[in-house]
Amino acid sequence: MSVLILNLSFFVTFNMENQKHLFNLKEDIHYLNGAYMSPNLKAVEQAGIEGIIRKTDPTSIKEKDFFEPAEEVKSLFGKLINASPKQIALIPSASYGLMNAIKNVPIKKGQHAITVNEEFPSDHLTLRKFCQENDAELKVIKPPKTIIGRTQEWTQKILESINEDTAVVVMSSIHWMEGLKFDLKAIGEKCRSTNTYFIVDGTQSVGALPIDVEAFKIDALICASYKWLLGPYSSGLAYYSERFNDGEPIEYSWMTRKDGHDFSKLTTYPEEFEDGAMRYNVGEFSNFIALPMIKSALKQILSWKTENIQSYCFELLRPLRDYLEEKKIEKDDNKMVSAHLYGLFIPENVNLSKLMEDVKAHNIHLSARGKSIRISPHVYNDAKDVNALIEVLNKHL
Ligand SMILES: Cc1ncc(COP(=O)(O)O)c(C=O)c1O
Repeated sequence: MSVLILNLSFFVTFNMENQKHLFNLKEDIHYLNGAYMSPNLKAVEQAGIEGIIRKTDPTSIKEKDFFEPAEEVKSLFGKLINASPKQIALIPSASYGLMNAIKNVPIKKGQHAITVNEEFPSDHLTLRKFCQENDAELKVIKPPKTIIGRTQEWTQKILESINEDTAVVVMSSIHWMEGLKFDLKAIGEKCRSTNTYFIVDGTQSVGALPIDVEAFKIDALICASYKWLLGPYSSGLAYYSERFNDGEPIEYSWMTRKDGHDFSKLTTYPEEFEDGAMRYNVGEFSNFIALPMIKSALKQILSWKTENIQSYCFELLRPLRDYLEEKKIEKDDNKMVSAHLYGLFIPENVNLSKLMEDVKAHNIHLSARGKSIRISPHVYNDAKDVNALIEVLNKHL
């Protein structure tokens, strides 16, 4: 079998070089679990350490440092998602960012909300609460039974369910376990035509897969930073379109107000918020440890470019897809599944827990749920990682 694997991987040509040297990943593990948590880039780790040390001498932290680094981060994130930095806010978690958005969605009596089956709990629970408070129906759109054509059919079902009575659609940019690339552009356009708010959780794709909030007509894009944005835990970034500019934030920080940066005026208690999405920033958003880490990660991502990350991962997984084809394991069209988060349905007759035990025994790190496994590589992975996985799969499939 190993001969066959070598043959399959022989034809792989990469558009960019492996970037493992930029990380401190251990040599003896096959880390295919970026969807669980990204490893630190060396530069991100260093930025975090410098951030910790900075407060040892508080005089090194100036008044401008409460605001300027945040603006830099917003500007970098704006480049990544095609948005104005003004419309971006710093958040501590996806659930926080989602709550700020949903609280400001208007809903009329008789309207409903839409999400997809097995959506991530932070999204589902936020939307469920919104529906409970507004006595609205929560419609959960189920996937088709089939695997082949699944993404297109599922997108079609979502599109057909949106109408003038849909107040809001909340869903992830790709399915967080299966990696299916829903047609966000078509869904965004449908939402715009029915005056429906379109709230997207980008945690599992932004930073690794291109996204454009303008082109996809997204009203709010919420991303935790510790996965594909390669940032720290307890940090994130959110985009709120101009529709939210007069909304009510969930916090009442001094830092989000007009004149907030003028320390001499603090006790004039300015109520007016700074423009754009400033009101949605978390209190103490100028996190002196996290912000330099996020900045460093965003710079690296922008220099790699998300389309290159995607094609690197696509080539990396080519031997796996060839192997699955050879084994006649059903999978959706290659173009419909993201390359950095690849959900693989394991046939009914395979013992998934035994397979996962074996995966673990071979130092391969990935996630399993239900009858599928989630393989989530990045530019630090190489053919050895994928071959190790194929060898284990081959004992079980
Ligand atoms: C799609 C998605 N959204 C959000 C999160 C994290 O949510 P929170 O920041 O609310 O913990 C995850 C974590 O796995 C996720 O997969």
